[in-house]
Amino acid sequence: MNERRIEIHPILGLRPERRHVTIHFGDRPLPAYEGEPIAAALLAAGVRVFRKTSKRGEPRQLFCGIGRCTDCVMIVDDLPGVRTCVTPVRDGMRVEEQDGRGRWERERGGGEP
Ligand code: FES
Repeated sequence: MNERRIEIHPILGLRPERRHVTIHFGDRPLPAYEGEPIAAALLAAGVRVFRKTSKRGEPRQLFCGIGRCTDCVMIVDDLPGVRTCVTPVRDGMRVEEQDGRGRWERERGGGEP
């Protein structure tokens, strides 16, 4: 597993042992740790675009990291608008880049979140 994660945190100490699992970003299987935020697994795997804005199609990814800004929302297991910075990884999850509000935007004719 590509380890682009903090091993020894100055406040939290050693990273606890965690179970290795696999999530799927589009057709790409990615290694992850069960329970870590989806965004952490994606960033560790080199994914840099999580969604694109509705109006201009501009790329977005992790910004606040605490579930407030919606820049990290993605389609997770067919559900759009999932905040990946605060959603824990489960084995076998399917994660997709989201355009605007995802499927719901097209169905409702909505705009930028
Ligand atoms: S990065 Fe802001 S809500 Fe996830």
